[in-house]
Amino acid sequence: MQLTAEFETVHLDADSSSIITIDQTKLPNQLLLLRLKTAQEVWQAIRSLQVRGAPAIGITAAYGLYLAAAASKAEHFSDFYAEFQTAKTYLATARPTAVNLCWALDRMEATLLQHQGKPLAQLKQQLLLQAECIQQEDIQICRRIGEYGLTCLQNGFGLLTHCNAGRLATVKYGTALAPIYLGWEQGYRFRVFADETRPLLQGARLTAYELQAAGIQPTLICDNMVSSVMQKGWIQAVLVGADRIAANGDTVNKIGTAGISILARYYKIPFYVCAPLSTFDRMAADGKEITIEERAAEEVTEMWYEKRMAPPGIDVYNPAFDLTEQQNITAIITEQGIARPPFTASIAALFQQKQAEAAKW
Ligand code: MRU
Repeated sequence: MQLTAEFETVHLDADSSSIITIDQTKLPNQLLLLRLKTAQEVWQAIRSLQVRGAPAIGITAAYGLYLAAAASKAEHFSDFYAEFQTAKTYLATARPTAVNLCWALDRMEATLLQHQGKPLAQLKQQLLLQAECIQQEDIQICRRIGEYGLTCLQNGFGLLTHCNAGRLATVKYGTALAPIYLGWEQGYRFRVFADETRPLLQGARLTAYELQAAGIQPTLICDNMVSSVMQKGWIQAVLVGADRIAANGDTVNKIGTAGISILARYYKIPFYVCAPLSTFDRMAADGKEITIEERAAEEVTEMWYEKRMAPPGIDVYNPAFDLTEQQNITAIITEQGIARPPFTASIAALFQQKQAEAAKW
């Protein structure tokens, strides 16, 4: 199987009984489809990064909650709702940082409560429709992020991206890679640099793979080569995704993002965060309030190596994300428009605008 532009990274199978997604831990060597049928399988797939990237995690969790609800044998709403809440709480613990996980689960619960009073079979149907809506919306949202993002770029730009915020992290297009895909469709030509993204190599394994599959040949660099390519004048813009953005614009994203933002500022290179509004956590006043996931030491000491590459017993610190301070961000590109400093006001304005548009319907 080839990764084609039509393939939707997370979707339900034809009879709505299981989630189909790519096992991202096997890429780039094997394009293996996963079939997830239960909340336990969904939890495990998210925790082990078989499904990863903030939007993809949210969509998979929404479908997981639907599958748990659909399997319920409860006959009364109170029992059904109790089971639903148990499954929701459980799925929410799969990973702590990407806010899209809780955002999607909350949206599913709001749907359930909105239709409370209807027969349980209809409630299950409404949950299915809501999960499908979250999936389909993601495609439109990423496309709009791409369109807004493209207004910040010019043909011939050298672009640096970190981790994978591409189609594998969403349903199609991605967030940080959306402007690249859309630009490419329109005849723009960029030189794209993907850094490896130690320790889990999302850049080398996933971004390099999906860009290459789309006919966009990226240049792979190690994480410690970022300064070198910037110094040479090869990078005109940095595009990254986000896992959670605080009300003041502070952005938590894959470990290494903060360092790149500091280098970009030093070299006067625009640094863009591309993310849907569902990645904002406006309850967090700033990034210090955001929980950063820590992962197993083995990811640093032995993963990908033929032999362990650190002495036994060594202490390891392995945070999966870091905090890019808002003063190092040029703009945050969303489906609702582009937020620029001062971010507290511009982010609030985007949400107000969205609310005003929703009220019109
Ligand atoms: O640990 P991961 O691979 O899930 O981390 C992913 C990232 O940090 C992405 O940049 C972020 O989720 C945005 S994906 C559109």
